[in-house]
Amino acid sequence: MKAIRITHTGDASVLSYQEVPIPVPGKGEALVKLKAAGLNFIDIYIRTGRYARPLPFIPGLEGAGIVESIGEEVTEVKVGDRVAYTGTMGSYAEFNVVKASDLILLPKELSFEQGAAFPLQGMTAHYLIHEYYPIKKGTKVLVHAAAGGVGLLLVQWLNHLGATVIGTVSTPEKANIAKAAGAHYVINYNEEDFVAKAQEYTQGIGPDYIIDGVGKSTFTKNLDAIRMQGHICLFGSASGPADPLLPNSLQAKCLTISGGSLFYFMSTRTQLVQRANAVINGIREGWLKLRIDHVFALNEAADAQRMLEGRKTVGKVILKIGE
Ligand SMILES: NC(=O)c1ccc[n+]([C@@H]2O[C@H](COP(=O)([O-])OP(=O)(O)OC[C@H]3O[C@@H](n4cnc5c(N)ncnc54)[C@H](OP(=O)(O)O)[C@@H]3O)[C@@H](O)[C@H]2O)c1
Repeated sequence: MKAIRITHTGDASVLSYQEVPIPVPGKGEALVKLKAAGLNFIDIYIRTGRYARPLPFIPGLEGAGIVESIGEEVTEVKVGDRVAYTGTMGSYAEFNVVKASDLILLPKELSFEQGAAFPLQGMTAHYLIHEYYPIKKGTKVLVHAAAGGVGLLLVQWLNHLGATVIGTVSTPEKANIAKAAGAHYVINYNEEDFVAKAQEYTQGIGPDYIIDGVGKSTFTKNLDAIRMQGHICLFGSASGPADPLLPNSLQAKCLTISGGSLFYFMSTRTQLVQRANAVINGIREGWLKLRIDHVFALNEAADAQRMLEGRKTVGKVILKIGE
């Protein structure tokens, strides 16, 4: 099969399009013939070596396709099922072996591109909204990188729940996209002081909850922007790891800071299915839209990653695999 393979970490040029053997599913596993793979910012951390993985490897943590064959003792899927998944490496390829219990049945009304677009970013938006801070009508939430993959889903979901959504973005074009998705206020954090603006949009009080996947360039400033007794969840570091924090600096404003990882919040089959269904229901009901503006061929994975890390994308980036 054709696949993207990495033999050493580095810039996007290490993503090499090669012929490799088709993997064989073992007990409890399924071989998925992939139709699409989802790109995620974690792919950049892994490619550069910030998140270490044993070499060589096929990158990609999200895909959708058709079950080609199954190993022994598989009960969750059968050959021919349309499926989607996240959490197993190797989706930048024509085939991937995935634990059957990690597969989500893909409803007919969702395309394979949509199937490769929703699991990682959609379930992340779900846990960030449901596991940390009670979101009610009027809760003021600041979402960094609001036109990104996770960002656009957060904006729509929060808006659907009645929250007041403040998004940050780096360009006027992204500002328009975040607004159209349901952000009530958008701050261009390249040109404006997001702390001052967030205060202005919350009558000098500050947001109740800040959701930060940007890290270094935003995290410390969040501490000034947030309201008394507010909550900041740090779940990523697109601009680099956040600077260290003195625990006692949380005292004066009685703050809560948390970290988040989707892979913990989908660690049982029950959780995975519930979270995936919550995202699928939002798509079915029409209030959650997957924005897929960037579709590349498998052998263009390096260009796709350059675009993602160069802040040139909005919403989801997909690799289309096969015809
Ligand atoms: N922990 C988890 O469970 C989990 C799960 C999914 C994603 N994440 C994290 O969530 C964040 C978003 O992931 P995503 O896949 O949806 O990516 P994305 O938001 O589509 O892309 C990253 C965005 O971050 C912003 N950014 C700010 N400074 C940047 C910099 N120096 N370099 C690159 N980008 C920068 C850019 O938006 P602007 O141009 O508007 O600034 C960029 O578009 C990432 O940090 C990712 O690791 C975490």
